[in-house]
Amino acid sequence: MEFLKLDVSKTFNFIAKDKIYALKDKAEKANTTLYDKSGKGNDFLGWVNLPSSITEEILSDIIKTADKIQKEVEIIVVIGIGGSYLGAKAVVEALSDTFAHLKGNSGKPIVLFAGQNIGEDYLSELLAVLDKKKYALVVISKSGTTTEPALAFRILKDHLEKKVGEVKAKDLIVAVTDQSKGALRTLATQKGYKTYVIPDDVGGRYSVLTPVGLVPLAIGGFDIRAMIEGAKSMEKLTGTATKFEDNPSAIYAATRYLLYKSGKKIEILANFENKLHFLAEWWKQLYGESEGKDGLGIFPGSVDFTADLHSMGQYIQEGERSLIETVISIKKTQYKLTVPKDADNLDKLNFLSGKNIDYINKMAELGTMLAHVDGNVPNIRIEIPEISAYYIGQLMYFFEKACGISGYLLGVNPFDQPGVEAYKSNMFALLEKPGFEKETEKIKARLQ
Ligand code: PA5
Repeated sequence: MEFLKLDVSKTFNFIAKDKIYALKDKAEKANTTLYDKSGKGNDFLGWVNLPSSITEEILSDIIKTADKIQKEVEIIVVIGIGGSYLGAKAVVEALSDTFAHLKGNSGKPIVLFAGQNIGEDYLSELLAVLDKKKYALVVISKSGTTTEPALAFRILKDHLEKKVGEVKAKDLIVAVTDQSKGALRTLATQKGYKTYVIPDDVGGRYSVLTPVGLVPLAIGGFDIRAMIEGAKSMEKLTGTATKFEDNPSAIYAATRYLLYKSGKKIEILANFENKLHFLAEWWKQLYGESEGKDGLGIFPGSVDFTADLHSMGQYIQEGERSLIETVISIKKTQYKLTVPKDADNLDKLNFLSGKNIDYINKMAELGTMLAHVDGNVPNIRIEIPEISAYYIGQLMYFFEKACGISGYLLGVNPFDQPGVEAYKSNMFALLEKPGFEKETEKIKARLQ
């Protein structure tokens, strides 16, 4: 197996290469701080050793549950939001056949999601599908009290219980939550659901290799062992025994830190394989929540190319020069498809006949990189050999480790998210939630 390849050479016109290497000591110290737990947020560092510390006992248990549920259902609905949603969603999208839902029975349940929004139409349309299908629920919430998944679970649990009866429904619900606290733990104990624990020392956005990601992925038929192996290889490569120059996470962190200091305030994660769309959504939460605080932090955005070259491409080429572009490149596609020759050649594409579609995509990628660098957008390139469970695991751990180092370079606590509470408090005040009487009064006065 190989390692992902990181290329930061197309940033050297913007920040001197020497300056990146001058950050060696600071970046290595930041990495050590993640291991000796002497930095900010040190209660939430369980993810650092997660790939190598997952026990065979937990893995076999998850796979056993998955096998049992897979035999009984056509759909699993995974209920969660934020860190209890995006990891599984990113991996499902990356590793699934894009048209699996139209191809009939593959022997694996289709994975759908709920609780990641408060859309009345979304839930109603989902219920209409579930009326006619056999399904199971995986409800994921560390706190057990997050409004969006709690609402969705209330509705879907009720639907399932009415459809198959309370006794059978119990066997089709898996809860992933805190070991002892919270409403979901209490309900799971009362009802007798199968449960898995979210470790106390792993925050939502770093939790894809805990049962938060592993349970839904295993039930969906994805190779969680391979994903963990990939992550484990990156855990080793980015450990404290590795020098800065050989540690891709440290180099990525140092490079983007210097670009940020030079005035590049926005990083867009670009893909040329749109299955990675949700990997970028996961990455946005990882970096946005970890670094966006104390008035600091790169704003993480994302684009799907080549589609977005026909929309956001204009801004990237000529808009305000505050962008960094980080491209995830996939070396090898799963399938081969060549351009046919056409007798009429009205579209003038015969010069491409016999060429692979991916060759054209790669030339689009190269052309885009050169154009954007010419347009003063520094480019970071991360290449993985293929989209597979192993390399997605490797890539995710690479980003997690880089995020921890990057947060410490920036001087923030990369493991808290105090800013996500503000909207909740306003929403509860507006909904007149018991306990929020004073806030309700205040907010009503403000809106008059
Ligand atoms: O990163 C975070 O802390 C958030 O995105 C949470 O993961 C999200 O709010 C879900 O929280 P919970 O798992 O407690 O329902």
